[in-house]
Amino acid sequence: MARLKQQYETDGYFGIGILNTNSAFNIGTLWRSAYIFGASFIFTIDKKYKKQASDVTRAWTKIPLYHYETFSEFCKLLPYSTRIVGVEMSQQSILVVEFEHPLRSVYLLGCESVGLPVNVLDSCHSIISLPGNFSLNVSVAGSIVMYDRLCKLKTRYPNRL
Ligand SMILES: C[S@@+](CC[C@H](N)C(=O)[O-])C[C@H]1O[C@@H](n2cnc3c(N)ncnc32)[C@H](O)[C@@H]1O
Repeated sequence: MARLKQQYETDGYFGIGILNTNSAFNIGTLWRSAYIFGASFIFTIDKKYKKQASDVTRAWTKIPLYHYETFSEFCKLLPYSTRIVGVEMSQQSILVVEFEHPLRSVYLLGCESVGLPVNVLDSCHSIISLPGNFSLNVSVAGSIVMYDRLCKLKTRYPNRL
């Protein structure tokens, strides 16, 4: 069989989403950052998203949003060889500065009022946190994680930095 000679910008990808969000505004903001920082898709689990004004780039025309009814469904439909990276302030978290991003990842953020539940954290392949003693807005946290990924994998994303 002939070898594939074509060169791709990257041989990885990532998606990002929120479990049980209370705010459509946060999804719109996250969607916009995700599109700009090179995510392949975004997702919601549990609560569905209704389009609203914070998505001024009309990111819905650029990258898809998938909806999963439950966390179990999300796990069942996870793409092959893709790691779930929980983003949460927790005892098990690794600080993002020390984290090596898997090439194929989905970043999972928690609900604004209660964060990610323990059973979900236990199912993540890794958990990362951002510096500080207080939690950030969820879409801000997601945007910083994507920026960190972009900086660390910059040789794989030469056209994005
Ligand atoms: C506003 S926070 C949830 C705060 C919630 N009151 C709690 O104490 O768990 C919403 C989500 O943003 C993300 N987040 C906010 N600040 C973070 C930080 N410093 N490190 C990691 N994730 C963070 C997490 O995904 C979190 O579930």
